[in-house]
Amino acid sequence: MKADIVIKNISQLVTMEGPDRPRIKEEMKNIGIIENGILAVSGEEIIYVGEGELPRHIDIDERTIIIDGSGKTVTPGLIDPHTHLVHGGSRENELAMKLNGMKYMDILRAGGGILSTVRATQNASFEELYKKAEKSLDTMLEFGITTVEAKSGYGLNIETELKQLRVAKELNEKHPIDVVSTFMGAHAVPIEYKSNAEEFVEIIIKDMIPRVAEEKLAEFCDVFCEEGIFTVDQTRRILNAARKHGMLPRVHADEIEPFGGAELAAELEAVSADHLVAASETGMKIMAEKGVIADLLPATSFNLANGKFANARRMIELGVPVALSTDYNPGSSPTENIQLVMYFASLILRMTPEEVFTAVTINSACSIKRENNIGSIKKGKKADIVVFDSPNINYIIYHFGINHVDMVFKNGKIVVEKGRTKGTF
Ligand code: NIG
Ligand code: FE
Repeated sequence: MKADIVIKNISQLVTMEGPDRPRIKEEMKNIGIIENGILAVSGEEIIYVGEGELPRHIDIDERTIIIDGSGKTVTPGLIDPHTHLVHGGSRENELAMKLNGMKYMDILRAGGGILSTVRATQNASFEELYKKAEKSLDTMLEFGITTVEAKSGYGLNIETELKQLRVAKELNEKHPIDVVSTFMGAHAVPIEYKSNAEEFVEIIIKDMIPRVAEEKLAEFCDVFCEEGIFTVDQTRRILNAARKHGMLPRVHADEIEPFGGAELAAELEAVSADHLVAASETGMKIMAEKGVIADLLPATSFNLANGKFANARRMIELGVPVALSTDYNPGSSPTENIQLVMYFASLILRMTPEEVFTAVTINSACSIKRENNIGSIKKGKKADIVVFDSPNINYIIYHFGINHVDMVFKNGKIVVEKGRTKGTF
C-alpha cells in the first residue's frame, strides 16, 4: 500500500490506543504514547501507526510527503463537542457590568446576555453569520480543532433557528472542520414569552422540533436546564420530543445552581451533560452508572469569574467519562482557544495532561457519536492529525496562553502549516 504522507521520528505520538468508547477512571491516563513514533496516511485514512521505521508493506515514492516529527508531539485532531459557533454580534459591553459585580443571570434577566445575542442573530443575514462563524472555524483549526459541535439557540424563533442551523450545515460542507449540529431552541425564554414560558415550550415541541427534523438539520437537541430558564420537567419534555424525532439529548446542566440537571441527564441517558459546576454527588454517581459523558467547560467558569469550577476529580473518581470543550459563545466563553481550556482543565480542575488529552480526543468523539471514525490515531480511522511544535504533552499544557500547533491534517490533507491555515480551501 502506498503512503501519501508519512510523519516519522515523532518525539511523542499520542495514539489514544484502546477501544472506541468513553474512557473512564485510570483509562483516562492511558493515552498510548509511542516515542520515536511513525505514522502513514493514504488518501483520507491512517494506514499505519508504529515505532521506528515503516514496515515493508507500506510503499513510498517521490510524491509521498515525508515530515520530520523530531521534537514534535503528534495527536489526534482535537474535538470540541460544545460550541455556540453561529451567532451575530459580540458582548464586550458586558465586561464593565461584570466588573461592577453584575452576575451573568442578572444581565440576562435585564434583557441582555443571551437575549442581546438573540437580537443580533435575528438581525444578521445568512452571509453575515456564515462569514463570522467561518472566521472562528479558521481560528479553531489553527488551534488544532478538526471537529466541532455547533448549537443553534440564538434565534428562539423558527426562522432564525433554521438560519443558524443552515449556516452550520453549509460550513460543514465547505470548511475543512466537520461541524456537527445541535438544535437548542430552548436556550432562553424570549422576552415575548417571559410570563408564559410554557407556551414557548409548546412551540419548541410542536413546531420547531418537527421542522428541524424534517430538514435533517440537527443530530442532537440541547436545553439550558437552569433555575430561571427551563425547569427539569420542561427539559424532559423537550428532549423526549426531540428523541422521537431522532435527535439525541444533551443538557446544559447545573451550570450555576444545583438544579437536578445531572440527574435528569442520567434519567434520559443523554449523550452528555455539560457544565456541571453545581452538580450534586448523586447526580454525578448516576451519570457514571448510565455512562453519560460530562462535557466540562472550564473557560466558561473562568470567564464567569465567580471562582466556581466543576469537580472533575470527583467525576473521574466516580467513573464519569470526562470531555472538555471551549463552549465558544459571545457571552460566557468568547474564545476559540481549546489549548487554554486544556490549561484550565489541568491547573484548575487538576486533570493530568494525559486525562486532558483523553478528554479532547476520544471522549469528545464519543460525546458527538463519532468514536468509530475519529478521536484516536489508529489504522482505518480518518487522518485528522495535529502536529504540535512541542517535545511532549506536558510542554503543551505548561507553556500556556500560546498556540503550539505547527501542522494540522484534516481527512489526510494539510490544512494548517507553520501554525497558519492555508487560506481558501
Ligand atoms: O453554555 N449557559 C448557557 N449558554 C451558554 C452561554 C450563552 C451566552 O451567554 O450567550 C453557555 O455558557
Ligand atoms: Fe453552552
